Amino acid sequence: MLARPTATYVLPDLAATEALAARVARAMRPGDAILLEGPLGAGKSAFARALLRAAAADPALEVPSPTFTLVQTYDTARGVVHHYDLWRLDGPAALDELGWDDATADIVLVEWPDRLGHLSPADSLRIALEPEGEGRRATLSGWPGRLEALP
Ligand SMILES: Nc1ncnc2c1ncn2[C@@H]1O[C@H](COP(=O)(O)OP(=O)(O)OP(=O)(O)O)[C@@H](O)[C@H]1O
Ligand SMILES: [Mg+2]
Repeated sequence: MLARPTATYVLPDLAATEALAARVARAMRPGDAILLEGPLGAGKSAFARALLRAAAADPALEVPSPTFTLVQTYDTARGVVHHYDLWRLDGPAALDELGWDDATADIVLVEWPDRLGHLSPADSLRIALEPEGEGRRATLSGWPGRLEALP
């Protein structure tokens, strides 16, 4: 078993969140699961939007919150990315209908990943966001060998 490396970043403003999201976007590849944790207003959607815009190399890319559809799919230069917001998920069984099995062959980017239950991928990158002063703190864990070398 490889240890789960951990890295902490202080993100004083939204631009810092966007810069970190762009670094994760550069490192991601098909088969990856990126799990965004944190309370309401922690900045999960802002992180996801910045990651998708960086991956698509399109700073104006529309990234609607998938709060109601639960998933939105993007074809990016880094691969196909499925953006899930599972806040309203009705238990892990409902993930079947959202194409979860096939999606994990691509890149999955998940808000409220605690809803995944036993379907939570073991080798994911977990990103926990929390308020710190006026900004945020991000704790990244997972991706042994890659986290240390984030581009
Ligand atoms: N590093 C940061 N510093 C300051 N503000 C930030 C930072 N990152 C994000 N924000 C701001 O935090 C607010 C909430 O962000 P966002 O909507 O992404 O949170 P969320 O975690 O998706 O919340 P919810 O769970 O309610 O959907 C936004 O106004 C966003 O611009
Ligand atoms: Mg959100």
